[in-house]
Amino acid sequence: MTLLIKEILKLKPKNQLVTAEGWVKNFRANKFISLNDGSTVRNIQCVIDFENFDESIIKKINSGTSLSINGKLVKSLGSGQEVEILVENIKIYGESNAEKYPIQPKKHSFEFLRENAHLRVRTTTFGAIMRIRSKLSYATHKFFQNENFQYVNTPIITSNDAEGAGEMFRVTTLDPKSPPTKNSNVDFKKDFFSKKTHLTVSGQLEAESYALGLGKVYTFGPTFRAENSNTTRHLSEFWMIEPEMAFFNLEDNMNLAEKFVKYILNFILDHCMDDLFYLEERLYNEEKNKPKNERNGMKLIEKLKFIVNNKFERISYSFAFEILKNCSHNKKKKFEFLVRDWGMDLQSEHERYLVERHFKKPVVIFNYPSKSKAFYMRLNDDQTTVAAMDILFPGIGEIIGGSQREERLEILKKRMNQFDVSNKDLWWYTELRKFGTVPHSGFGLGFERIVLFATGMNNIRDVIPFPRTPNNALF
Ligand code: 4AD
Ligand code: MG
Repeated sequence: MTLLIKEILKLKPKNQLVTAEGWVKNFRANKFISLNDGSTVRNIQCVIDFENFDESIIKKINSGTSLSINGKLVKSLGSGQEVEILVENIKIYGESNAEKYPIQPKKHSFEFLRENAHLRVRTTTFGAIMRIRSKLSYATHKFFQNENFQYVNTPIITSNDAEGAGEMFRVTTLDPKSPPTKNSNVDFKKDFFSKKTHLTVSGQLEAESYALGLGKVYTFGPTFRAENSNTTRHLSEFWMIEPEMAFFNLEDNMNLAEKFVKYILNFILDHCMDDLFYLEERLYNEEKNKPKNERNGMKLIEKLKFIVNNKFERISYSFAFEILKNCSHNKKKKFEFLVRDWGMDLQSEHERYLVERHFKKPVVIFNYPSKSKAFYMRLNDDQTTVAAMDILFPGIGEIIGGSQREERLEILKKRMNQFDVSNKDLWWYTELRKFGTVPHSGFGLGFERIVLFATGMNNIRDVIPFPRTPNNALF
């Protein structure tokens, strides 16, 4: 019977015949095959009595070869594994040239593996990352379904700029060499959709429409940002989870966000321990080579447990500003961007200080200055702040951005004008405020940012299968 290696490793060895299929990680001494099929971080050791095997078959067994092995499952005599397969039959599916196969049985740099992203999932590290990613995704659906949310799919091609930041990828079928023009401008009326369209930066506005009918909804889909940010935290194509809830205020929103993040991290602590343990060891060994002040304080699993078991710190923007101002005043910390005027945007150095040095745990900042946040956020009674919230994580920075939404038509229109957001294009969005408007809230979690945190990796390009970043759309 063909079983997953994960299942074979759990069997009691009783000389029973088992079949395993997978890719050879390593073949040692013409005798020991380490085989992996992606179901687990662990390999199964398969032992060959090479004198009883056709040499032509032995020759084809190399790192990267795909094969099917049949043999007796026995207690292993060696250390490092409990069971092993005494090979009786081998069927080779695909050969692999040992010298040319990029994934050698040794540690490769992450840069090298990025250039070989089509094969990197065969490494132990990327297998572990992608299994954790998959479980986080499953846990996300499980959480929202348990909480009575409906899953909605919002459009990927859209004509609105949900964030009003203009960082969008154009979608067009016009010929770039000779586009139709009108008054010497490109005439988008002649384009496929008879208007300018682009890839969505967020499904929020459409999710709001659905929340005002289904009550509690969430999206989980790809989003696109044409921002020229070449950092370890930004992708041009990333996945976002956006819940939107009718009748929720900002506090309900923060409570839900915290509960959600803890739930999915807890889920992988319950279901991915082997993978987490492997990553923890691998990354910890790398940490040891770094200078002391650049090392992460906690090991991965300890860090995840800490997050799950501790309440996030909630502070207003004004309070955060005071902390930062005092600390730069007392010369406790020198910031590149001076902390001088209330209303300034918090830079990542400020956020990191609050999270990593001051509170030493996740921080939720709420009630931001209205001019620094998006047009749809609800204006507070003080008329200067909006009911926004960001969740900041150690080592990552912003992981969630959300708000209570402006549900009052007149104020929404005013804010749209202030931000130069066209009333005309978003007529349908304002109509949601004309017919049965209700207080409502939501947030967006950048999925890769949580995968980054959960795996302890350092670069967001290493937690999505085929990363898209400025100047790079390989594969
Ligand atoms: O803060 P953002 O821009 O908020 C929104 O898009 C809202 N419409 C969400 C909502 O309220 N429904 O993005 C939300 C999150 C960020 O906190 C961050 O985690 C992630 O999306 N994010 C990115 N992740 C990877 N690469 C990028 N370029 C990202 N930009 C934002
Ligand atoms: Mg944000």
